[in-house]
Amino acid sequence: MILKYIIVVNISQETKLTKQKIKKLSGTIRIIGDKSISHRALIISSMSIGKSEINNLLESDDIFSTLNILKDLGVKIIKKDKKWVVYGNGSNGFIQPKNALDCGNSGTTARLMLGAVCTNPIYCTLIGDKSLSKRPMKRVTAHLEKIGSRVSLTNNKNLPLTITGSQTCLPLLHKISKPSAQIKSAIILAALNINGETKIIEPRQTRDHTELLLKYLKVDYKNQKMSSGGRKLIFNGPYEIKSKNLFVPGDPSSAAFIIVGALITPNSKIKLIDVLLNKTRIAYLSILKKMGGKIKIKKTKIQSGEQLGTITVLASSLRGINIPANLSPYLIDEYPILSVAAARAKGTTVMKGLDELRYKESDRIKSTVGMLKSFGIKAESIKNDIKIKGSPLKEVKCYKTVKVYTDHRIALSASILGLISNNPVKLDDNGKSMSTSYPTFKDDLKKLIIN
Ligand code: S3P
Repeated sequence: MILKYIIVVNISQETKLTKQKIKKLSGTIRIIGDKSISHRALIISSMSIGKSEINNLLESDDIFSTLNILKDLGVKIIKKDKKWVVYGNGSNGFIQPKNALDCGNSGTTARLMLGAVCTNPIYCTLIGDKSLSKRPMKRVTAHLEKIGSRVSLTNNKNLPLTITGSQTCLPLLHKISKPSAQIKSAIILAALNINGETKIIEPRQTRDHTELLLKYLKVDYKNQKMSSGGRKLIFNGPYEIKSKNLFVPGDPSSAAFIIVGALITPNSKIKLIDVLLNKTRIAYLSILKKMGGKIKIKKTKIQSGEQLGTITVLASSLRGINIPANLSPYLIDEYPILSVAAARAKGTTVMKGLDELRYKESDRIKSTVGMLKSFGIKAESIKNDIKIKGSPLKEVKCYKTVKVYTDHRIALSASILGLISNNPVKLDDNGKSMSTSYPTFKDDLKKLIIN
């Protein structure tokens, strides 16, 4: 039998590579809380009036960035018996922070918090790590300047930035030029505290967790489907939101790593429970099924306005496919792990129209291709497309330390390839970036690995 290796990442910096025979992945696990919903649960509870208990909040670096910023803005948040309790001060209740608000690595924190603070009479400085400081912020601040807040950006586009909020922001029509849930959510959060009708038109529907959570909290707004395929939202603020207890479903984007792990590790059979099945988030499951993946999805319950369910996965023979550009808003976080599935598929996979990947935690066109090449997999980028020549049988070997560019999704994808690699996988950040979104990745894999 071929000896297989798994990378065992010690979060205390050092990476230990343990040689183990991995026979298969098997068993049932519950996936940790969804990152997008965890940000929104914290921010919207803080903007509600009264106490909210949040169950199954993701406890990752990105979420702690949002949580600590809300505390800096005067919101009391404590942990009690595994739940996080938020004492909301209303949509206009943020106080002048003493220090700069540190968004760490989290684009969602920076962009959503800009919308949340811009209608309060406070002055905030937002900072972030090296990767976040390179990412574009103007796509959000341009909308917030239009309604009356004042913003000053580094190089006219990046963090560090300062924003001076205004209590008399204008209710306007915002036409969002690129599909982005972060831009849309920032404007919605501002609209909650603006007098009059704020209208938002998005060119294509993007993840709708902000809308669903506000609906669950009985915020009255209009959500119209347009013939062009986009959506129009109309908010008539200001709103007084009454707090409610919230539940955060399992993160489908984190589940994607385990799912691809099971698909490519022979004889595997796994079950994931309480996973979020919001249709704007699980397009990758349809892609994997099209590639031949044996995946079953069963809806189970609705919690805090979101659909949850069980996903069962069997090891499968995969085939390469073309993934068209129009799907990119629905697969945006899953391209790195889809590229791992493509590497083990028969034939070529082409992922088209990935322009937005250039602006994620790393330039994910470059980092995904680089990660695959570290394993000797034939991959190339052609403008903003990625082409991968898959091979289900070729030996997988890590030929050099994988450069992850501090990007959690690249580190997690490389570690999944480690399940079928014939030698140890080395990550240049020793797996540290995984705690951005999936701090329990190693523990979850341990529960499923049969040696
Ligand atoms: C997110 C939206 C997506 C996604 C990000 C989280 C969110 O970004 O890539 O990881 O929680 O709103 P965009 O919609 O801005 O592309």
